[in-house]
Amino acid sequence: MYDVLIIGSGAAGLTAALNAKQNGSKVAILSKTYPTHSQTVQAQGGINAVLYEDDDSVNTHVSDTFKASCNLSNKENINFMCKNAKETIFWLDKIGVPFTRNKSDNIAQRKFGGTEKIRTCYSSDYTGLKILHTLLDQCIKNDIMFINEHILLDLIIEDNVCFGVIAIDIVSGAIIEIKSKSTILASGGYAGIYTNFTTNSFANTGDGLAIALKCGAFLSNIEFVQFHPTALVDSNILVSESARGEGGYLLNKDGKRFIDELKSRDEVARAIFTKIKSNEKVYLDLRHLGHDKINQVMPQEKKLALEFSKVNIEEELLPINPAAHYSMGGIKTDIESKTNIVSLYACGEVAQSSIHGANRLGGNSLLEIVTFGKVAGINASNNAKEIKDIDNTTSKKLLKQKTYINQIYTYTNEINFYENKDYLGKLFFDNVGLFRNEQNLKFAIKELEKIKNKIPKMGILDKSKQYNKNLVEFLEFLNMIEIAEVIARTALNRKESRGSHYRNDYPEERESYQKNSLIKKIDNNLQLSFEEVS
Ligand code: FUM
Repeated sequence: MYDVLIIGSGAAGLTAALNAKQNGSKVAILSKTYPTHSQTVQAQGGINAVLYEDDDSVNTHVSDTFKASCNLSNKENINFMCKNAKETIFWLDKIGVPFTRNKSDNIAQRKFGGTEKIRTCYSSDYTGLKILHTLLDQCIKNDIMFINEHILLDLIIEDNVCFGVIAIDIVSGAIIEIKSKSTILASGGYAGIYTNFTTNSFANTGDGLAIALKCGAFLSNIEFVQFHPTALVDSNILVSESARGEGGYLLNKDGKRFIDELKSRDEVARAIFTKIKSNEKVYLDLRHLGHDKINQVMPQEKKLALEFSKVNIEEELLPINPAAHYSMGGIKTDIESKTNIVSLYACGEVAQSSIHGANRLGGNSLLEIVTFGKVAGINASNNAKEIKDIDNTTSKKLLKQKTYINQIYTYTNEINFYENKDYLGKLFFDNVGLFRNEQNLKFAIKELEKIKNKIPKMGILDKSKQYNKNLVEFLEFLNMIEIAEVIARTALNRKESRGSHYRNDYPEERESYQKNSLIKKIDNNLQLSFEEVS
């Protein structure tokens, strides 16, 4: 039994673990893969903070973030994050993140989109990776327990209180329960649902959200999915915003710039996609930046472009397209990272912490996950201290999950779920993507219904217990279907355009929709409503 059990080993989970441990708790991190596989590495370009107030201010960072959110965020939460940003960066610096320095040996900053200010701190174009690895080193140094290669199946909840989780040990195939006084979901977002059209890692399948929703947690703003303007064509590997921040141009087929490259991501992505839809190619031009700058500030982009697109960015134009990158929606949390279920917390991309609203600023995701990772870790740890003991008898859910998994082994596998997963990605990119309308959204929902009806005829070919990746991927697919339905239904429900959610049939922002969408599952039925932004 643990005081604090964290699901997910990206930067949010690792930060939560470190803080809970330093607050005196017995902590474990349960992860489907390994920490180094986390999506955190895809935040390459940097982390925002006002370090020096000469030309910038915390208030400007707050107002930029609020403006990007299109009025769907909580200013108090944003203020908390931005005010603490300097301290967050200095803490990361102190524990060993190798931030790039400027000539005066201060932490260097670069420009990112959605602001006139230069406030994105970075570590070359490996910022997320460096932060992740440094946090992992610290967790190892602090003797934090890692339970890797375990996939979450269920939350143990009685009378609206969470007491831990049920998971499969992927290596042995055993289905186990892990009890904890406090549980933190830090299991990442759901942009991976756009299979083959996403910058996300294979692991970003919305597991935490799907399971939390089934267990009674409230979700919020799931319709808001961010499409990153620049991914490599075909592979959809991210080309960091830092490439444009450092002066890269977007060129049309005639070699002409057609948009301010540093407008907010939704605007830039839609401008690019409009061209691509009319069969025009769009290119990122970095040639004028020169050999030295490219090798100094974007060595990763150079390597990826060469390896996956066979383009030398020092000499050639790089074809790009937008791809699903980040999910603004998530499990509804408050400023203390609490969900509506007692002793269940959420932080990182899995959470909707009222910061990003309808659109996220580049560089704010790393800041948010470290800020609220700390909040969740400390609050979960304090909560655990209040709880004397928890029931140690085996939860009824363990037997229920064992029965369920055995049942999956009996599914006929007449229909290949991998093909359906690929279809889901394309269906969503085409119909629930950068441009949406009622007809397309209804089509996606109908197609989803068809997929759902076929599930008992899907299943797994590999019937072994140990290291059954086929089973893991099937479970992930089921979670994707759950959340895909929520994306499509909330997108249909929001009859306006706001931030990343653009409806051709309702192209304007409408005041009556200046509300968060709220999603509950009651008796297996989705219930959608809107609630005031606090
Ligand atoms: O473009 C990027 O480097 C991504 C950063 C982010 O998503 O914050």
